[in-house]
Amino acid sequence: MTGTSALLNTRHQMPMLGLGVYKATGEGEVEAAISTAVSCGYRLIDTASVYTNEDGVGRGIARCGIPREELFITTKIWNNAQRLGDVQGAFSRSLERLKVDYVDLYLVHWPVPGCYLSTWKEMEAIYASGRAKAIGVSNFEPRHLEELAAVSDIVPAVNQIEFHPYYYQKETLEYCKSKGIQVQAYAPLARGAYLDNDIICVLSMKYQKTPAQIGLRWSLQKGVAVIPKSTREDRIASNGEIFDFEIEAADMELIDGLNQNFRSASIPEDLRDIPF
Ligand SMILES: NC(=O)c1ccc[n+]([C@@H]2O[C@H](COP(=O)([O-])OP(=O)(O)OC[C@H]3O[C@@H](n4cnc5c(N)ncnc54)[C@H](OP(=O)(O)O)[C@@H]3O)[C@@H](O)[C@H]2O)c1
Repeated sequence: MTGTSALLNTRHQMPMLGLGVYKATGEGEVEAAISTAVSCGYRLIDTASVYTNEDGVGRGIARCGIPREELFITTKIWNNAQRLGDVQGAFSRSLERLKVDYVDLYLVHWPVPGCYLSTWKEMEAIYASGRAKAIGVSNFEPRHLEELAAVSDIVPAVNQIEFHPYYYQKETLEYCKSKGIQVQAYAPLARGAYLDNDIICVLSMKYQKTPAQIGLRWSLQKGVAVIPKSTREDRIASNGEIFDFEIEAADMELIDGLNQNFRSASIPEDLRDIPF
């Protein structure tokens, strides 16, 4: 059975399941989602400065009744701060909004051309200060990771990428595994795109699990952590019930075959016209 946490290259444990909170910006929405999630056993919350809800996440984690050290909080540096060279300032502001002394994981949100190598140097300093227990990247392909390795001895602990049955980034996954980088799947539900797929629905019947649980479980069995987003209590609960069954090898292969390199999340506007 798949473990419920991953051992990062920092020797810290990271839960394999977390709550994504992108677009959870309604009044009290993210606080309520966090409260529901922790009662369902989630311990990881994934936010970013660009989601404009770090304040709410801060309130949510302060009120949720779980000691800080038992939670795993991730946030990310946005592209404009990288361009301004304001990594330290952006990080300090995130900590202030979250009202925490440290985050468990700080990520470079996108490999902004001409910036991400110098950003990584600043990330190293943040890691050394202890205010981020781990540092990592997001949306990096092997070529970006190779460039990073050429200038730094600190291997990212995590690469957060879009990953689901319609976007099986096998090459990046295998590369990351070979370097000790934990892959974490964002948009692990492809924002709903594969939930009515025929094969997923047949497997949903076979295993008596929802289509979302089948897709999330497929990622887990690939060794990939998942951070599904929902603000609905029923979905937060069911998305978390993925550690009590196993998809058989033949069925895993069926799901592998669904890949269509489909990206459900859009590329940020400021990177659309330049190859990153
Ligand atoms: N690093 C990056 O560049 C990056 C990019 C995108 C996302 N992320 C992170 O990854 C997290 C997850 O990705 P995402 O939010 O883009 O997409 P997602 O988790 O694949 O899908 C979320 C969408 O699916 C719905 N949903 C949730 N559970 C469901 C279920 N069981 N059945 C049917 N629909 C369901 C949600 O609606 P309801 O809320 O109404 O349930 C929401 O509209 C984000 O929240 C964010 O933390 C990171």
